[in-house]
Amino acid sequence: MSRFENLDWYDTPRYYDMVFAPGTEAEANFLEQAHLRYGKTRGRRLLEPACGSGRMVAEMARRSWKVTGFDLSDSMLEFARQRLTRSSLKARVDRGQLEAFEYPERFDLAHCLVSTFKYVLDAAGARSHLACVARALKPGGIYVLGLHLSDYKKSSVARERWVESRGKTRVVCNTQTWPPDRRLRRERVRTRLVVTEGDREQRSQTEWWFRTYDARQLQKLIASVPELELVAVHDFLYEMDWIGSLDGGHDDPVLILRRS
Ligand SMILES: C[S@@+](CC[C@H](N)C(=O)[O-])C[C@H]1O[C@@H](n2cnc3c(N)ncnc32)[C@H](O)[C@@H]1O
Repeated sequence: MSRFENLDWYDTPRYYDMVFAPGTEAEANFLEQAHLRYGKTRGRRLLEPACGSGRMVAEMARRSWKVTGFDLSDSMLEFARQRLTRSSLKARVDRGQLEAFEYPERFDLAHCLVSTFKYVLDAAGARSHLACVARALKPGGIYVLGLHLSDYKKSSVARERWVESRGKTRVVCNTQTWPPDRRLRRERVRTRLVVTEGDREQRSQTEWWFRTYDARQLQKLIASVPELELVAVHDFLYEMDWIGSLDGGHDDPVLILRRS
């Protein structure tokens, strides 16, 4: 089998974007519905911490939200800015960090989906992130936070696979997550991309660590930031009619946190 070159997949934003694009419309619909159902504000200012390639930034700007996003990756930010320019959309996209950020304005809605929050590797950073979100929201504004929970009893590797095409480019993405370590609060994740463009094939892989949460650990974290109240739990299917609970054994919660 040919080798996989080690590469940060956020340095190839187009391929990342292809993999996540199919979920964008459902996620954007869900955010708008959550804002109407759970938010107590009716403005349209939106913040996306770790906005990546800007797929959600552009989609929400297209829906007339006044969007601000930030990310650590310069390649992702550049891709996001180019996409906004190409589509004649306006949004603010800055360099910034999940663990510490501040904006002069206040937002009606903020979101961080697809487990991105798990990049924050320690407890202090996680609390600081939620405190920054609370400060950034208007009273009554909501934060929609989606992440996979970890099962510490698990001993097998979990695998996910996506295959997407755009024009002449085909991307096969295989993600592998190793069993979580309860003591270290870490799980190792690897994404492998096989990209085919015409008769050229490129193989790359990225490895990183995520902080792990089970339902109890997530509840404890939320309780440590009293300005944010947990008002509902949905899941990665992004269906408004399906409402769960954090201790209901769901692996993929999407939390609705409201600023008091
Ligand atoms: C899975 S992508 C999600 C991007 C976007 N929110 C979306 O839904 O498509 C994760 C993003 O988090 C960014 N990221 C990782 N750690 C970060 C940190 N500590 N601060 C800011 N951004 C970070 C990465 O650069 C990447 O763009």
